[in-house]
Amino acid sequence: MSYLRSLRRFPAKSRSLFPKLIPSLARLIPTALLFSGLCLLTSLAPLAQVSSSHAGGIADKGLDTRVESILHRMTLEEKVGQLVQYSAGQPTGPGTGRTDYDDMIARGEIGSLFNVIDPKEINKYQKIAMEKSRLHIPILFGLDVIHGFKTEFPIPLGLASTWDPSIIEKASRVAATEAAADGIRWTFSPMVDIARDARWGRMAEGAGEDPFLGSAMAAAYVRGYQGSRLDAPDSIAACAKHYVGYGAVEGGRDYNSTEISEHTLRQFYLPPFHAALEAGTASLMSAFNSLNGIPSSANPFTLKQILRKEWGFRGLVVSDWNSVGELIPHGIANDGATAARKAFLAGVDMDMVSSLYHDNLQQIVKSGQATEAELDEAVRHALRVKLGLGLFEHPYVDEGAAAKALYHPESIALAQTAAERSFVLLKNANGPDGKALLPLASGSQNVAVIGPLADDSSYPGGAPPGSGPRVSLPVALAQRLGESHVSRFQGAGILDGSDNDIAEAVAGAQKADVAILTLGEAPDMSGEAASRAHLGLPGRQQELLEAIVRTGKPVVLILFSGRPLTLPWAFEHVPTVLAAWLPGIAAGPALVRTLFGDVNPSGKLVVTWPRAVGQEPLYYNSLGTGRPPGDIDLTRPPSDVASRYLSRYIDEQNTPQFPFGYGGSYTSFKYGPTTVSPQRLSVATLNQGLSAGAKGTPAVTAEADVTNTGSRPGEEVVQLYIRLQGTSVAEPVRMLKGFQTVAIAPGETRRVKFELKPEAFAIWNDHNQILTEAAKLTVWISPDSARGSPAQAEIQP
Ligand code: BGC
Repeated sequence: MSYLRSLRRFPAKSRSLFPKLIPSLARLIPTALLFSGLCLLTSLAPLAQVSSSHAGGIADKGLDTRVESILHRMTLEEKVGQLVQYSAGQPTGPGTGRTDYDDMIARGEIGSLFNVIDPKEINKYQKIAMEKSRLHIPILFGLDVIHGFKTEFPIPLGLASTWDPSIIEKASRVAATEAAADGIRWTFSPMVDIARDARWGRMAEGAGEDPFLGSAMAAAYVRGYQGSRLDAPDSIAACAKHYVGYGAVEGGRDYNSTEISEHTLRQFYLPPFHAALEAGTASLMSAFNSLNGIPSSANPFTLKQILRKEWGFRGLVVSDWNSVGELIPHGIANDGATAARKAFLAGVDMDMVSSLYHDNLQQIVKSGQATEAELDEAVRHALRVKLGLGLFEHPYVDEGAAAKALYHPESIALAQTAAERSFVLLKNANGPDGKALLPLASGSQNVAVIGPLADDSSYPGGAPPGSGPRVSLPVALAQRLGESHVSRFQGAGILDGSDNDIAEAVAGAQKADVAILTLGEAPDMSGEAASRAHLGLPGRQQELLEAIVRTGKPVVLILFSGRPLTLPWAFEHVPTVLAAWLPGIAAGPALVRTLFGDVNPSGKLVVTWPRAVGQEPLYYNSLGTGRPPGDIDLTRPPSDVASRYLSRYIDEQNTPQFPFGYGGSYTSFKYGPTTVSPQRLSVATLNQGLSAGAKGTPAVTAEADVTNTGSRPGEEVVQLYIRLQGTSVAEPVRMLKGFQTVAIAPGETRRVKFELKPEAFAIWNDHNQILTEAAKLTVWISPDSARGSPAQAEIQP
C-alpha cells in the first residue's frame, strides 16, 4: 500500500477544469433515443468516401485559400514553429525543462501551449505572438478538459453509463463554454479508447468496452465541444485520443505495449475514432503504446494509410506527451533526430512537449529526409484548426468574462442530472421484510454516513477542494433529513485507518437506522498512470465494510471508483450496492435524490464487471471458443474429464459479476420474445445497401414488448444485440447494434422497435474488407448482454 500512497504525491491531471445553458437542459431526459440504424457503423470507411470538411466543421473553402497565403509567406523556421507545443503550466508529465516561451513565441517557434489556465497569462502569451512574431499567427491554447472545465460532470465512464449521448453532448457544450471563456480553445478530449481491462486506470476516461456505444459517445463529445460552428466564441476544438489501441495495453499496465490484429483493430478499436472524425473532430492525438511492434506515434499504417488515405482526415494530429521522445526508449530510435524523423514521416503533425521537432525538423527537411511539401502539409493541418476556430480574428480572451461563465445554475443542474443518470444500481436485494432497502423511506430516520469518500469523492486534481458550489453527500443528507439525523464517521482512510476509527464507525452505525458506506478509490487511483493489479477496496476499507455489516444494521454501499472493483464478499453480503463512479460537482444532491427515490436509477454498465482480477481482460463481445462450457456448472470446480477440458478456470466462474449492459432499477421490467422481420435476407441486397451507410434504408426490423412489472415509473435502456455464425472470420458471441431509453409507467407495456441498416450486418472479412456474408443471424432485445430471448434469421448467399 505504501506503493499506492506514493502515487498520491503526484498532482492528478486537471480532470475537469470549465456555462450558458438554457434552463430546459436541466430536464434532459427523454424520450427514447434511437440509436440502432441511426448510428453509423463507423468501420465502413473505405466504402463511404469522406468529405473534405473532415476537420472540425472547417468546411469553409475560403479557409484553404487563407492557409495557402500564410504558408506562402512562412520561413522554414516558422513552419516548424507551428508544429511545436509545450506545457506552460502545471506539468502533466515529465517536461523538457524549457521556460523561455516568451522569446520562442516572439521568434515564431511555438504553435501551441497547454496547461495555461489563467486568462491573463493566456493573453500575455498571445500578445507576444500577435505583436512580436513576424507573421502574427495566434497561439492555440489547449488543456485536458475531460468531463467539464470547472463545473465538473461525472467522469466519462459514468457519463457513458447513462447510455445517453445527448447528455454527453450537453455536458461537453457546458465544458466548451466555460473553457472558451477562459481562453482555452482546444481540449484533449474525448478519449475514445476501447477499454476491456479494469486494471487500466484510464478506463475511467472513456466510454467502456463497446465500439458501437463508444462511437455514439465519441460523436456526442465532438458535437458538444465544437458546437454548430467551430469559430463560435464558445466552441473548442476536440481531440480524439489516443490513436490507437492504447486501451489494450498488456496487463492493463499504463503505457505498455499492445498486440492487436488488423481485424480486431478495425472491428473494435478504430470505429470510435472514425465516429469522431465523421462528427468533425478537428484533431486527433497519437498514442504512447506500441502497436504490433511499431509505436503509435510513429506508425504510418494507422496514421497515414488509415487516417489520411482511407478516412480522408484533414485535421491536426498531435503527439501525446513526449511520445515522440519516447520512441527512443521504445527502441526504434537511438537519438532525438531519428525519433523526430520517424514520428514526422509517419504522420504526427505536432510534437507535444518533447522539443524534438524544434531541435531537428528543419535539419530533417534541409537534408532531404523529409520534403518541404510534407512539412507544408503538416503546417496546413495546424493552420486550418487555428483559422477554423477564428483565432486570427479573435486571438484574445475577455479576462472579465472568464469567471462569469462558470458554475451557471443550469450547468450545475445538468451535472446533477448527468450524475443521477450515471449511477448503476448493482444490487438491491429484498431484506427479511420482503422489501428492498432502496429507496429509503422519506420519513425522518437516523443515517450514519461512513467511509472516506463521502465528502470529496471527485473534485478535479487542479481545483481546490470545496471550489464551486459543491454539496457533499453528508451535507445534502442533512439538508434533507435535518442535521440531527445525520452522523458522519470516517471509519478508515482510503489507504489507511486505525482500529479506533473502525470502532467509532461501528458504534455510530449501531445508533443509526441505516448505514451508508461510501467506499472505493480516491480520484487519483484511476485515470492516467493509475493501473492497479488488485481491484479490491484499498487500505482497510474491506475490514470497515465487514465490521459495519456485522452490526446487522441495514447497509447501503455506495462505490466510488473509476473502474469496476472486484468485491465478491460485498456482493454476497451487502444487500444494496450502487456504483456511483466519480460523480462530479453535484454528487451530494444526486445521491440523495437517488437514495430517497426522487429519481429511479437507470444507468447501465458500459464495462463488464469481473468477479476476480484473474478474469481480465473480460468483455462481453468476445469470440466463442472451441470448448465452450455448454451446460457444465462452472460454479463448481471440475470433477471429471467432461467438466475439466474446457475453456474455464478451475478456481473461478467464467461469467462476470455483472455483465456489460447490466443495471438495476427500483421497478422491474419484463421482456417479451424478440421478433425479427424479414427472417431471410440476401447478401447481395445487404451489400448494395452498405454504400448508403447510416442513411440507408432499414434491412431488418426487430421488436419486443417491455413491461414495467413493478410499482414505480422507470426508464429502461433497452439493448439490441446480434450474433453472426458461419462467417469467414469468427464473430463475437454478441455485438451491440442498438439501444434506446424507454420510459415506462407501472403496469405499462411498450413495444420497442429497432430498425437495423445493412451496415449492422457488415463484418471485416478474412481479407480485411468490410462486407456482408452469408450467416446464421441471432438477434436479442434484452436488458443486458447476458439475457434476452433470441430470434433467428438467415443471411443467404
Ligand atoms: C496523456 C494525454 C493528455 C496529455 C496532456 C498525456 O500524458 O496521455 O491524455 O492529453 O498528457 O496532458
